[in-house]
Amino acid sequence: MHQTIDPAILYFGTPVVLVSSQNEDGSPNLAPISSAWWLGRSCLLGFGSRSKTPQNILRTGECVLNLPSVDQVAAVDRLARLSGSNPLPPHKRAMGYRYEKDKFGVAGLTPIDSSRVEPPRVAECPVQLEARLVDSHPVAANDPVRRGHLTALEVQILEVHVGEEILLADHHDRIDPTLWRPLIMSFCEFFGLGPKLHPSRLAEIPESAYRPPSARVAEVAS
Ligand SMILES: Cc1cc2nc3c(=O)[nH]c(=O)nc-3n(C[C@H](O)[C@H](O)[C@H](O)COP(=O)(O)O)c2cc1C
Repeated sequence: MHQTIDPAILYFGTPVVLVSSQNEDGSPNLAPISSAWWLGRSCLLGFGSRSKTPQNILRTGECVLNLPSVDQVAAVDRLARLSGSNPLPPHKRAMGYRYEKDKFGVAGLTPIDSSRVEPPRVAECPVQLEARLVDSHPVAANDPVRRGHLTALEVQILEVHVGEEILLADHHDRIDPTLWRPLIMSFCEFFGLGPKLHPSRLAEIPESAYRPPSARVAEVAS
């Protein structure tokens, strides 16, 4: 039997992303999110509009999406309930958040230079995606209660940095999904992935088929 319920959140399990961005004074901000999904080389990021990170990205047009593995879970948790906003928005203060200027230091994570954008990468994260803002979209604009509170930012991935330990043997441009262990947030709790469950008919399609045709021609020519 199914029941009709009214949950406050619908966070069914998505990878955690540590988004680095640049503050007005040039210092870095770092925030965990889990509202992120990719289509090709584009990514959609969901933010509460009053967070510092979307404000930084809208102002500078840049960010880095650092994907922690399960090994970085303690560092991610140290970033929870912190904000780079000063003063804090009242709703965050009420939920026990505090302002923190040095997010990298508090988390125990190491900033390293990016190659195409100003915000730093997180050295400990096996995947680091340098990105540029392409568009912003209001979320729930027709809802009189939620209007103005949520923003979706569309970014284009400019540069993909990946730890050698998760690369597929003999395939320089591919990640081995049996080695990549993303950190997953489900209903505000942390999880990892279990083992592969079933043979995948989708995975029978060569990964190169997902490149746009013009990029495939360039790949063959190079
Ligand atoms: C695991 C995890 C996932 C989160 N996912 C999101 C999210 O998808 N979107 C969002 O706006 N905030 C999310 N948060 C809350 C933000 O981290 C929080 O709003 C933080 O204060 C943002 O920092 P900033 O104000 O410095 O940008 C998440 C927090 C944690 C710990």
